[in-house]
Amino acid sequence: MSLLHTASTSEITLRVNGEEHHLTVDNRSTLLDTLREELRLTGAKKGCDHGQCGACTVLVGGERINSCLTLTVTTEGRDIVSIEGVAALADGTAGAGTAAGTGTAGTADGTDGVAAADGTAAADGTAAADGLHPVQRAFLAHDGLQCGYCTPGQICSAIGALGEAARGWPSRVTGDPVAGVAGTAGLTPEEVRERMSGNLCRCGAYQGIVAAVLEAAGADRGEHGPATPAGSAGPAGSAAPSRRSPR
Ligand code: FES
Ligand code: FES
Repeated sequence: MSLLHTASTSEITLRVNGEEHHLTVDNRSTLLDTLREELRLTGAKKGCDHGQCGACTVLVGGERINSCLTLTVTTEGRDIVSIEGVAALADGTAGAGTAAGTGTAGTADGTDGVAAADGTAAADGTAAADGLHPVQRAFLAHDGLQCGYCTPGQICSAIGALGEAARGWPSRVTGDPVAGVAGTAGLTPEEVRERMSGNLCRCGAYQGIVAAVLEAAGADRGEHGPATPAGSAGPAGSAAPSRRSPR
């Protein structure tokens, strides 16, 4: 952080979607407000402004965070990726050098050779050819949205969750928390619902969201049953959260 600061503001440089921005920000500003009001990146949404809904989710240093709970000044020097920049993640041109791009992403054993820098198994080097990240493409393919208000946060959260799974991180429903999960391909619908439980969807598009995340994960749905088992859809029975995944 620059020494040029007063009691209430700071001059900082933010790196967002691969671009640097020199800003004077109120020390109390949240990253969500800075992205939306200062940089006019309005993809991240303000749902609750209290860390409850996940609509404001962006990636900082490769990890998903609630930008409404994050002070902007704490993100100086980090790679910030919002929904506007996720497509470039797939070809490594944005947010590179993040935790998800350190060479530990992809499948747990790193042998599939096609995993994207953020751990999404669907990337094969042509991921951004249509201007979309593989997770964005999967959301479209599976109707993982209705009004779209929650969707930027859902997609950023899914990318972060897949990076966590690629590194083997367990969730509350992982059978062996010490062993973790066997990469993204080992994710089950139950794992996806738990890991996405911090992102609410008022339209109840959970069924498509789970299917989309599983597809982007390259999950073996044949082994674990259908991505969206009958009777699991809807706000009460699908991705509806019991607790938030680690962030
Ligand atoms: S707006 Fe940040 S969690 Fe709801
Ligand atoms: S698609 Fe409308 S809130 Fe999720």
